[in-house]
Amino acid sequence: MSTATKLLCLGPEDPIRLETRKTAMPRPGKGEVLVRVEATSVNPIDVKRAEGYGRRLLSLKGAGTFPLVLGNDFAGEIVSVGAGVSAWQPGDRVMGLVPTGKKGGAHATHLTVDARLVRPAVRGLASKALAAFPYTFTTLWLALRGAGISEGNATGKNVLVHGASGGLGQLALQVLGAWGASVTAICSTANIDLCRNLGATAVWDRTHRRLEELPDHFDAGVNFGAWEDEATLLCRLRQGALGYATTVHPLLGNIDRCGLLSGAWRSRQDWRHMQSLADARGARYRWIIFQPDEGALDMLHQFLTRGTLTLPVGVSVPFSNADLAFEHTARHMKGRAILLPTGALSS
Ligand SMILES: NC(=O)c1ccc[n+]([C@@H]2O[C@H](COP(=O)([O-])OP(=O)(O)OC[C@H]3O[C@@H](n4cnc5c(N)ncnc54)[C@H](OP(=O)(O)O)[C@@H]3O)[C@@H](O)[C@H]2O)c1
Repeated sequence: MSTATKLLCLGPEDPIRLETRKTAMPRPGKGEVLVRVEATSVNPIDVKRAEGYGRRLLSLKGAGTFPLVLGNDFAGEIVSVGAGVSAWQPGDRVMGLVPTGKKGGAHATHLTVDARLVRPAVRGLASKALAAFPYTFTTLWLALRGAGISEGNATGKNVLVHGASGGLGQLALQVLGAWGASVTAICSTANIDLCRNLGATAVWDRTHRRLEELPDHFDAGVNFGAWEDEATLLCRLRQGALGYATTVHPLLGNIDRCGLLSGAWRSRQDWRHMQSLADARGARYRWIIFQPDEGALDMLHQFLTRGTLTLPVGVSVPFSNADLAFEHTARHMKGRAILLPTGALSS
């Protein structure tokens, strides 16, 4: 019988302990496809989960118990399809998303996934370049939607992006720029040129300037930088602003620290305080939690096909060097970290 290999995270320990393990080759169920994974990304959430973050809440989804198979996206090739799948055939090159759940993540040589969470690979893009996008773009998409910004209403809007030099931020600058928004990027000194080159209209150097001094004229804001800045940023929205969304909220951390009930109660207090600041400006307010989204995948596919989106890869390594990819991400080094599970050609 053929086998698959999974990358197991044994933690929660420092340094993170990773190990490969052979398992039976998964078989696609009804509506699923079996994918040979050529490339899969390592994101900040993988590093945090490897250190124990989110265990209590994610246990409710069956995804809190070590050893964990991490990873939420992939690029690769369809090996076989389950009953009821007609859109895909063996040999198709694809990219896609994996939900966080008891089945485990994308850090594997092979995985079965809902056929609706797969899109065609874009011609001319290697798997290792493609795999940088699906999870990060989907989270960005959820954040923009949460803040009430869309292709239909973004033109001419002033949007504030905190954490603009990171993966989410870089995609935000490109997508909002393409939609005609005027973006103020907040980043540290070293990343000013990066943000300018990706289309920021204005750059705010957070290393040298207080966020309190930002103008308070923004139509929308997204926070990918730090929860500590949440209240300050919300106060930079204008009256009648569209909305604001954050990916760096304290929900999982509160529940880790205080338990399910107290953590949920504490999070509600945090949320209500920020919601009241948004309410005072007539703006909507959302906390974002990644989940697969077909609309996001469709939009990603469009952007990639047009060739108008970049997200550089900083390191790409086989499973045998997976610790390098985790370290790269943990240290916020430039470019995304990619694993090549099959030792792949990643063509
Ligand atoms: N809720 C969810 O489902 C979800 C999903 C995806 C990501 N996230 C979270 O969203 C955040 C951004 O993700 P990412 O992939 O873009 O991360 P990333 O690539 O590591 O970028 C984060 C950026 O934030 C900035 N930053 C770091 N520390 C900061 C601080 N103390 N204050 C202000 N800015 C700071 C850094 O840029 P500068 O130094 O240039 O400012 C960095 O480039 C991460 O914390 C990640 O865990 C959450």
